[in-house]
Amino acid sequence: MNITYKITKDNINWEEVAGVLKRSSLSDHSPKEQQIAFENSYAVVFVYDDDRIVGVARALSDGLFQAAIYNVALDEEYQGHGIGREMINRLIAQLKGQNIILYTHPRTVLMYEKFGFRRAKTALELFQAGSEQLEWLEDTGFFLPEGFRFADEYKREDMKGPAWRH
Ligand SMILES: CC(C)(COP(=O)(O)OP(=O)(O)OC[C@H]1O[C@@H](n2cnc3c(N)ncnc32)[C@H](O)[C@@H]1OP(=O)(O)O)[C@@H](O)C(=O)NCCC(=O)NCCS
Repeated sequence: MNITYKITKDNINWEEVAGVLKRSSLSDHSPKEQQIAFENSYAVVFVYDDDRIVGVARALSDGLFQAAIYNVALDEEYQGHGIGREMINRLIAQLKGQNIILYTHPRTVLMYEKFGFRRAKTALELFQAGSEQLEWLEDTGFFLPEGFRFADEYKREDMKGPAWRH
């Protein structure tokens, strides 16, 4: 294994990027679509074993205050050796001073907590997905049930809509 990290977007083999994301089941988009998504991202990390891409990560950002991490994936045979940690650290290093949000699979919630991420009680997402994909997200445990409230929120007047309503 000869692992190196690259944080620039030049001379990237987008077929390999699409392959990593497809194998991890994170994204099934074409190499051209991945190229657009990564080239339009603010920060990227590509992990190479010799000259082959085996890991990817990217983040959107306004360049000053707010950022969002997406598409963090490492080929299975490279997992569990600290490479993912290094990849994520190198992505976060490019977002210095910025707030960072991310949505992850339930199985990696604990991992991101190790990086200092906290679960957000008021984060909401509007997915532009078909009903089948939404159902999968629901069944896999990405969403709280519709209309969900945490126990302490039931007594909050400011969560019941505008004051003139009640
Ligand atoms: C997520 C991923 C990039 C992590 O890469 P990795 O190289 O296996 O991670 P590392 O070996 O660097 O581990 C980093 C730390 O996270 C922990 N960790 C890794 N995967 C974990 C998991 N699923 N749950 C809890 N902790 C986890 C490790 O124990 C390690 O902690 P430590 O430093 O305290 O020992 C990789 O597992 C992956 O690509 N998974 C499939 C795609 C995916 O689920 N991506 C995240 C959703 S966006």
